[in-house]
Amino acid sequence: MSVEFVVHPSDHPLAAAERAAILAAPGFGKHFTDHMATATWTPDTGWRDRRVSALAPFSLHPSAAVLHYAQEIFEGLKAYRHADGGVWLFRPEMNARRFARSARRLAMPELDEESFVRGVEALVRADEAWVPDGGSEHSLYLRPFMFAAEAFLGVRPAEEFVFSVIASPAGPYFAAGVAGVTLWISAEYTRAAPGGTGAAKCGGNYAGSLAAQREAREHGCDQVLYLDSADRNKLEESGTMNLCLITATGELITPGLGTILDGVTRDSVLALAPDHNLTPVERPVTRAELSEGCRTGAITEVFATGTAAVITPITAFRSPTDDFTVGDGAPGKTTLTLREHILDIQYGRTQDTRGWLHRVL
Ligand code: COI
Repeated sequence: MSVEFVVHPSDHPLAAAERAAILAAPGFGKHFTDHMATATWTPDTGWRDRRVSALAPFSLHPSAAVLHYAQEIFEGLKAYRHADGGVWLFRPEMNARRFARSARRLAMPELDEESFVRGVEALVRADEAWVPDGGSEHSLYLRPFMFAAEAFLGVRPAEEFVFSVIASPAGPYFAAGVAGVTLWISAEYTRAAPGGTGAAKCGGNYAGSLAAQREAREHGCDQVLYLDSADRNKLEESGTMNLCLITATGELITPGLGTILDGVTRDSVLALAPDHNLTPVERPVTRAELSEGCRTGAITEVFATGTAAVITPITAFRSPTDDFTVGDGAPGKTTLTLREHILDIQYGRTQDTRGWLHRVL
């Protein structure tokens, strides 16, 4: 069985001048490239009709299962342009494996790792002109996703799925970027419970996060920080990012896996920590440990990780009961060094000693 995506080039690509104007200031998730990758699945055929074709709307029956029961998963990864013009992905196999885990949790068919990576590669090749110049630290954000397309209203796993990849040139996820962002510690909303879908990257988790995100905005914060659903005492993750703390004793602490997303950037930061004289530690962190640690100086820096957000300094927290800053309220030095380290690897400015980069072009 071939896992190749057959390319049918678009007959109406955007004019080069319009593309250049978008690439000069892409924002995040606002503009899309000329093509998309797709494949379809039914129990009888398995995955078939792998193709790259012109970006176009899907045609869905109003009863399509995804519209009612949210049987949908997605991923996020980026293509980086290196100084020599080459285009690379960062650890795409990690995304492929998490996609398969998410599919299992949502009772969806798994897409094999090779097809996932080939689909992403084929789209990047078709839309190479959309990969921004690496000097700007812009990238091409890739969004693989899968949804239940079968038309029926019974509640059971669907029997028809679409896999797709779309691409969007990307600048910083947060306007404040490396200047640092503020998190709202929600007392009202939680994100996930043991046995639930917290570790899966499914659209439903993000739909449930929007009210909390709005609450955070209403309190002047950029994002929400969730506490665990059992006793609302332990830190979980931020709406779109994993959380990391740096201590005065040289530990890089992040909440352990289970109900949070197994982030690729989180995993990479844990691996890079020893290069920065930090001991990586995965363990529960209480809300009191965070606030007291920030007040006493036992916690010196806090940052969040994610593909879209890269490494984003957290400079302050707000909650219904107290507000506190991290350090002197400025982005942490080690945070910025770690951020530079990971970007240097992604943009090919330093040696990739761990074999994390995957060449496309
Ligand atoms: C990512 O960082 O790639 C994400 O998926 C987070 C968000 C943009 C939904």
